[in-house]
Amino acid sequence: MIGKIEGTGAYAPVQIWDNNRLAELVDTNDEWIRERTGIVKRHVAEEGETTALIAAKAAEAALENAGVSAEEIDLIIVATTSPGNLVPNTACEVQHLIGASHATCFDLNGACTGFIFALNTAQAYLAQGIYSNALIVGAECLSNLVDWTDRSTCILFGDGAGAAVLRAVEEGYYAQMTHSMGSKGSVLTCASRNKRLPGARMDSGAQDPKTFLHMDGGEVFKFAVSRMPEAIKELLRQEQTAAEEIDYFILHQANARIVSAVAKKLGLDLDRFPMNITEYGNTSSASIPILLDELNQAGKLKRGMKLVLAGFGGGLSYGASLIVW
Ligand code: ACO
Repeated sequence: MIGKIEGTGAYAPVQIWDNNRLAELVDTNDEWIRERTGIVKRHVAEEGETTALIAAKAAEAALENAGVSAEEIDLIIVATTSPGNLVPNTACEVQHLIGASHATCFDLNGACTGFIFALNTAQAYLAQGIYSNALIVGAECLSNLVDWTDRSTCILFGDGAGAAVLRAVEEGYYAQMTHSMGSKGSVLTCASRNKRLPGARMDSGAQDPKTFLHMDGGEVFKFAVSRMPEAIKELLRQEQTAAEEIDYFILHQANARIVSAVAKKLGLDLDRFPMNITEYGNTSSASIPILLDELNQAGKLKRGMKLVLAGFGGGLSYGASLIVW
């Protein structure tokens, strides 16, 4: 058995902050952000708009696109680094919101590689015949983790969710490649907000600066432009597939310059590397499924097309999947 993507969906908060809005918060400007990242605006969740709520909206859109009812779903995996709660997990909240009462639900934290890990995990369950219909979601409210006084990070991130419905079928194709590099973890960090000594006083006022996203931007950039092409080449070699056979490379949207550098290293035209970072910024685990849905809704994906999905991020981690649409 193999999981076939039957439908996709996406949702982003209605509130939009353009680069000029950020220039009101930190010492930056529209020109710098556009030139160095390709980002023009990002969606930012409003008070009460949780990771689960936006995940559920993307999930409902994916179910509709797939023509599958919530009751038919028996597995929900939400990839997120920014859950609204630790308990219950976001996937259980989504289950409740969409009425998928027969599903087993859990979250997975794989930072920006999260959607690739979720896809692999769902595929493994479907291949074993354990579940028949899986809903996988990448959802983030990174605006909760961003330090809005730090211009080196706050200009990059945005909120959003993307989802896919997978149905187990007898015949199909799926291949993947993932790696983790725990020794490099300090390059991109965000400490837990729940660290407290036993008996310590509850102090809701102060927030430890370590509990915001921190990164060595240059190191992450170098890591991404070296490891992503390597992973893609490794995967294609393993599958005896030429890069020229791939119709679209759907890469994690972290920086337009990273996507361009990956295309260059693979020796391919940039038109096979769709981008939507202009609109969303970096939505971590949501960026790949949002882009996949955008291509699907635009009618650009035809049955039989070969797609590579590839991500990289905190951990550090990176990975790529090869699917036939
Ligand atoms: N506005 C204006 N100037 C700025 C800003 C800003 N927002 N940020 C930095 N600068 C200045 C710097 O101070 C520096 O000034 P100086 O030359 O006088 O010292 C200059 O601009 C250049 O700074 P760099 O950091 O060298 O800029 P760079 O071109 O490397 O771009 C960036 C920085 C955009 C962060 C880039 O390194 C990057 O995209 N890295 C990858 C980040 C990433 O993908 N992270 C997410 C990983 S995925 C996940 O799991 C969350």
